[in-house]
Amino acid sequence: MRRLRSKIAAVLALAAVALTAACASNAPAATEQAARLPAGQLGATIKLGHDIIEDPHKYLPQNVVSDMSCSACHIAAGTVKRGGSFVGTYARFPQWNKRAKRVIMLQDRLAECFLYSMNGTPPAYNSKAMIAMAAYIAFLSRNVPTGAAAAKDDRFIVPLPNASPNIKRGGDLYAQKCAACHQANGAGVHGSFPPLWGPTSFNTGAGMAHIDRMTGFVRFNMPQNAAGTLSLEDAYDISAWVLTHPRPSFDKTRIIAPSPQPASYF
Ligand code: HEC
Ligand code: HEC
Repeated sequence: MRRLRSKIAAVLALAAVALTAACASNAPAATEQAARLPAGQLGATIKLGHDIIEDPHKYLPQNVVSDMSCSACHIAAGTVKRGGSFVGTYARFPQWNKRAKRVIMLQDRLAECFLYSMNGTPPAYNSKAMIAMAAYIAFLSRNVPTGAAAAKDDRFIVPLPNASPNIKRGGDLYAQKCAACHQANGAGVHGSFPPLWGPTSFNTGAGMAHIDRMTGFVRFNMPQNAAGTLSLEDAYDISAWVLTHPRPSFDKTRIIAPSPQPASYF
């Protein structure tokens, strides 16, 4: 399943890049050109970044705890509109971060998903893995001007309904529309369907633990075999019900040590 998804992701990634280039220039030759990874180490590094995002447990077993890949929430390695897309992400850094109350770079944002969504520890900013993920996101973002805002139809976050969610209705819908894959106990199926709550899921600090983000993600991307069939109310009620369950709590006080290097490294 992972291998198949990885192939699909690679094709999609190239298609997304080709699409961006086509819009920018309208030239089929440029499209073909853009679909090709750069030669040599840069191309190999971009591909490594893609492969880590598809399967972080394989490449960074020390850094990830939750039983999911980055692609569990960034569909097809971040190449799908409203599916946690990375197309254009590189162009939006540096940016002000409300949570950290400071200006952050892309590596800081990557670190956040390691800490919260993966319930783990970020790799050092100067590590091969961190640079590879940034290189992959930069590659997906080619031709997007620096500072450009995300297109409206790129993001999955939408305004929530005014009324409070109907949690009981959410539980009934979950049993009908989600439990076949994510299981009645929310633990998913290792290697196929990621967990939605419990000890192997993302922690309380994660974006997905916020009702607006889960509602938006679910509305546009779930059920995986019938994406787009839920109303906003359905997604809202189900997400509210999912979020009544326990998950690992985020420990703010942990110290994350940087990785020292000899001067010759730089
Ligand atoms: C449990 C779901 C989940 C997982 C797993 C996850 N993320 Fe995220 N990630 C999110 C959410 C939610 C956002 C915020 C999306 C938004 O604001 O539109 C986000 C945002 C990001 C962003 C910023 C995107 C942008 O355009 O601003 C990056 C980069 C990122 N994640 C990288 C990663 C990487 C790398 C991994 C794996 C190590 C990962 N994420 C795993 C849910 C997840
Ligand atoms: C046919 C199987 C299937 C069904 C049904 C399904 N999902 Fe998923 N879900 C997946 C897969 C597989 C992923 C990982 C992303 C991908 O590969 O598309 C995922 C990812 C997720 C994620 C982000 C990752 C995580 O673990 O938090 C959430 C949230 C989610 N699903 C919620 C739901 C909800 C709510 C429903 C019911 C409305 C649902 N899913 C129905 C297969 C399914």
